[in-house]
Amino acid sequence: MSRGHRICSSIIDAIGETPIVELSRVSRGVSGRVLGKLDYLNPAGSKKDLIARQIIEAAEGCGELKPGQTVVEVTSGNTGNGLAMVCAVKGYPFVAVMSKGNSPERAIMMRAMGAEVVLIEQCGSSTSGHVTGDDIRRVEEAARRLVAERNAFFADQFRREENVRAHYLHSGPQWLQATAGKLDAFCDFVGTGGGFAGCAACFKEWNPEIRCYVVEPAGAAVLAGQCVTRCAHLIQGGGYAKHLSLIRREHVDGYLTVSDDEVLEVTHRLAREEGIFAGYSAGANVAAALKLLRGELSGKTVATTICDSGLKYLSTDLWREACMEQ
Ligand SMILES: Cc1ncc(COP(=O)(O)O)c(C=O)c1O
Repeated sequence: MSRGHRICSSIIDAIGETPIVELSRVSRGVSGRVLGKLDYLNPAGSKKDLIARQIIEAAEGCGELKPGQTVVEVTSGNTGNGLAMVCAVKGYPFVAVMSKGNSPERAIMMRAMGAEVVLIEQCGSSTSGHVTGDDIRRVEEAARRLVAERNAFFADQFRREENVRAHYLHSGPQWLQATAGKLDAFCDFVGTGGGFAGCAACFKEWNPEIRCYVVEPAGAAVLAGQCVTRCAHLIQGGGYAKHLSLIRREHVDGYLTVSDDEVLEVTHRLAREEGIFAGYSAGANVAAALKLLRGELSGKTVATTICDSGLKYLSTDLWREACMEQ
């Protein structure tokens, strides 16, 4: 039964079935189709709601998470928003550990849902809006200390297979259903790599010919084997230039890089031409999909994710021009 025809027992039930839209306006003049899955329409505003539910319910199921136990997570904010929502409903205290370099909107949202937010100073060379792998390592260290101090459950999205399973069980099958399995390629900007890994595993199982591409920021494409020349990119939520244990290399058909300028241009075009008000990583994904259509996959159908909402970046430069028109 579709979500629109039943009463959800809580907001948790409203997670996951997000629409898939053909982005025919931004791909005008290019041969082929870009399809975007609007994960920003999840209740807490991002693709990460799906993994929040999966991680908590799997841990409840196997007894790793006890009633009333504190949950701790390292987050750029979106997983924290998802966990804050799920924990609010289920009655778990939640502590989000986050770099000060991330936009404050998500921290405010978490606090509003009853979470405690611990903000960690960035490393000396990092700047606000640009979260690096070193910043994330600091946040992880702080989170591990908190987990020990409070005898908490660590959601641990960078290592936990449930992150992958959430997308393998839900996003991947929804893509196959919506397209009747007729997909040529998938590309995904990676943070933890869970979205890429789960969808790629599902697609490869269905048809190994579906090509799966990892998207990274230009200058920080370590998974592609490149040296880091610029880790201070704009794309919040990923591109940490660190090894990702969740990604299975045999599922990666190629690596794509996108520059800050490309990301800004496409994120703005998504808003103006498609009416899709999304964050930086959605622009990165669509920019990468357009590259594929302009190159090796001309004429094909490329699937990608619209990861989170543009509302999460009102304090950043992403919408500077729109703010100036006030
Ligand atoms: C806005 C945004 N985009 C992309 C990603 C990357 O997704 P994944 O962790 O599945 O690789 C994240 C992860 O936190 C995110 O918050």
